[in-house]
Amino acid sequence: MPDQTVTIELFDQEPSTFAGGLLVYLVEEGISQATESDLVINRLLAQVRETGDFKGEEDQIFLLYPELISMEAARNVAAKRVLFVGLGKQDDAINGRRERLRLAGGTIAKQAGAVKAKEVLVVLPKKYLLDAVEIAQCLSEGLMLGSYRFDLYKQPKEDAPAVQVERFLLHDGGLAASAVHKGLELGWILASATCAARDMANQPGNNWTPADFAEYAKKLGKKSRLKCTILDKGNLQKLRMGGILGVNQGSAQPPFLVILEYRTNKKNPTILLVGKGLTFDAGGISAKQSVGMEEMKYDMCGGAAVLAAMRAIAEIGLAEMNVVALVPATENLSGSAALKPGDIIRHYGGKTSEIINTDAEGRLILADALAYGIETYKPQAVIDVATLTGAVIIGLGHHYTGLLGNNDQWANQLIEAGARVGEPLWRLPLGCEYRKQIDSKIADLKNAGSDRSGSTITAACYLQEFVGETPWVHLDIAGTAWNFTEKSYIPKGPSGIGARTLVDCLRQWRPIQSADKN
Ligand code: BES
Ligand code: ZN
Ligand code: ZN
Repeated sequence: MPDQTVTIELFDQEPSTFAGGLLVYLVEEGISQATESDLVINRLLAQVRETGDFKGEEDQIFLLYPELISMEAARNVAAKRVLFVGLGKQDDAINGRRERLRLAGGTIAKQAGAVKAKEVLVVLPKKYLLDAVEIAQCLSEGLMLGSYRFDLYKQPKEDAPAVQVERFLLHDGGLAASAVHKGLELGWILASATCAARDMANQPGNNWTPADFAEYAKKLGKKSRLKCTILDKGNLQKLRMGGILGVNQGSAQPPFLVILEYRTNKKNPTILLVGKGLTFDAGGISAKQSVGMEEMKYDMCGGAAVLAAMRAIAEIGLAEMNVVALVPATENLSGSAALKPGDIIRHYGGKTSEIINTDAEGRLILADALAYGIETYKPQAVIDVATLTGAVIIGLGHHYTGLLGNNDQWANQLIEAGARVGEPLWRLPLGCEYRKQIDSKIADLKNAGSDRSGSTITAACYLQEFVGETPWVHLDIAGTAWNFTEKSYIPKGPSGIGARTLVDCLRQWRPIQSADKN
């Protein structure tokens, strides 16, 4: 796995002494100074404004080469290039301001790549209306996420050696250095975890198997304070997890249930995270069409998000909370022993399910994990993350993750977290009229309705059968896990969505009042 090599550090000298490839100032529209202390930079900005080519509008950039400027004082700037990046107008909405910094970070990363700068210094905007920790955090996230590349399988071209940013430096610009330091560390951890989730997703199905999920979790367990337990096929058989085992029947790769635990104190609340770790979904006997099927290697993005979140949680720490993550991992193929339409399976805990469509396999593996996780760890609240239905893409496109759940307070906590981190969520309803669509004549339920109407909702109804009264939220990331809204810090392909929302939600967790059910 390519590990994130880009670093971000604090720079405590005068920005003018920075002799690297790119020196960056963030400029708000309508504010005439780029910095509190550097008169030369402010004079340059004034001249640039006079050209009319740069006003500080959102996403606007202007690149200067100090050496080529006739102004004598410009010689005092040691950097090879100076870049002004627009932040747009002051905006009341705080989430909008967070997002603009992430976008600016992504833009800087792209520009640094274009000019092949190895070292980049960004001077933070002192007057930006946001807490200093958050300014540094959001910008760092944008810088790191925007620098992401996956070239593990490309031969390096000898004639054109790739130059990548190696180091980002942040100058506090007059903000408290300790806050900036805290923010950049947070941003780095969250972005690195997100990039790790992107890496897992980018890996081809033959190099990211259920065993690779298990290996990754074991390594995390060794490196951090997380406890890792791997349940193998034998364990799953003893526990009678007919969902995971059933889906696995058509595959030569053994299944695993990966467990990571972040523990503080028994008295603290426990939150359960469950992620769909389907490392390739060919549909099984109810085969998918072959056009575009290669994208089904991404069917493990829920599992990736959950593991990435645990990695970040272990690094950041959560004082008064326990977090348990479960990733049921298998392929869904059509080997001769594969599950067939009409078969009946028995889930962990005893509920039976008639298989109508073997391509509706995500709910089968999640159901076992949810039932087992809730019984074993008795969590106060549960979140599952899964690329569960094609229908969510029809409904919400690639811009919002679908959210469904049995508790308004818990759903709202997630919606707020998603809005803070730039991963928006949209709630869909649940209800007995949808639940009826998966009534089976001969089993407790069936795994798909007779048509695809409301199939994002009926999929969630299936999961709801396994969570009982525990506050639970389901995130259907089929539309956002890859080809999520393209932005400067979100590339085409896997987005790594979910990890930052999960961590943010847990860091801001408020106990759920039991009276308020959905
Ligand atoms: N992994 C797919 C969902 C999916 C589809 C993700 C497209 C990303 C893009 C899931 O296992 C699936 O096949 N779901 C079926 C369910 C149906 C048979 C009820 C679907 O949505 O078509
Ligand atoms: Zn499927
Ligand atoms: Zn699937």
